[in-house]
Amino acid sequence: MKSLLQTLKGATISPPPIWLMRQAGRHLREYRDLRLHANTFLDFCYSPDMAVEATLQPVRRYGVDAAILFSDILVVPDALGQNVSFISGMGPRLEPLDGRTAIDRLDTTNLHAHLAPIYESIRRLRTQLSETTTLIGFAGAPWTVATYMIEGGSSRDHQRTRAYAYESPDDFQVLIDLLVEVTAAYLIRQADEGAEVVQIFDSWAGVLPPVQFDRWVIKPFQKIVATVKTAHPHLPIIGFPRGAGLGYATFSAKTGVDAVSLDSTVPLTWAAKNIQQDTVIQGNLDNLVLRAGGKQLENAVQEILSVLSARPFIFNLGHGILPDTPVDNVRQLIDMVRGR
Ligand code: CP3
Repeated sequence: MKSLLQTLKGATISPPPIWLMRQAGRHLREYRDLRLHANTFLDFCYSPDMAVEATLQPVRRYGVDAAILFSDILVVPDALGQNVSFISGMGPRLEPLDGRTAIDRLDTTNLHAHLAPIYESIRRLRTQLSETTTLIGFAGAPWTVATYMIEGGSSRDHQRTRAYAYESPDDFQVLIDLLVEVTAAYLIRQADEGAEVVQIFDSWAGVLPPVQFDRWVIKPFQKIVATVKTAHPHLPIIGFPRGAGLGYATFSAKTGVDAVSLDSTVPLTWAAKNIQQDTVIQGNLDNLVLRAGGKQLENAVQEILSVLSARPFIFNLGHGILPDTPVDNVRQLIDMVRGR
């Protein structure tokens, strides 16, 4: 039986299931070797042979309880015709959207055709995973994806996007609504093809004041969750509004997600009391303590388990694994969580 699915259905399992955000990728030697075979990072994502292999690498190496599809949140703007490229060492680059005309030029007609290789990867993965490993699909949340589309890449404080949302809220709403629609359609197709759980990453949810958080994070999540659940009523959905602080409680109560992924700043006892009564919790080990290892790692893991494992809980990091994390630390973490 799949422990991740049981947990998401409300069972308290001991030891809790464990998987790690960004578990595939550069911290694995076998990933770096495989990556040499693709020209660009997006070519890699759109190659089912390579994406399937990268998805399976951490499952083989660590025996984690879930496989997360190897892809990226920025395939969606790429599929809408806003060309995305990844420059090594510099992160993603997009031609920034500079207003309503650019937003209106985004084109949804080729969405599923463009993303077809990803659906093919999911179909193949379903035949290759064991009886105990759950396949997780994912997408970026509208707010976070919009920040990349408007900034043209990563940015320190997302000032352009936050300013645009205040100065042209109606135009920004058009972009968010478009992203709500395509993200829901994308997640539904992932589930049609065999994703058993989906996670929605809102990595930059934490930069918004409460009124804006409600409009650009909570409302879009509500719509996506409702639409996806209409097509797939039993599909568990995990939300990750990273940095939401007290907003985690509102997010959990209002969006309809089955589980929330906590970042490492959320106090455990607060989360146990205010969130875990009604919503499954995933998280929230600091990726830097995993990289550091040793006694501090042991203490942090025991603290999380002692506060959160009495109710439905999925062990994970508070954000993605860092590329220079030693594989021995990851193995040690998994052994600790499994009580070995
Ligand atoms: O979790 C997994 O193992 C599955 C794959 C996955 C990737 N990106 C692969 C990737 C997932 C789930 C993501 C999500 C993602 N992508 C997020 C949300 C989670 C988070 O970290 O906040 C965001 C914001 C992105 C956008 C993105 N992709 C950035 C900013 C970058 C550059 C910085 C970086 O980490 O390299 C990427 C590139 C990226 N996505 C890589 C990988 C393995 C590195 C590409 C390479 O191999 O050179």
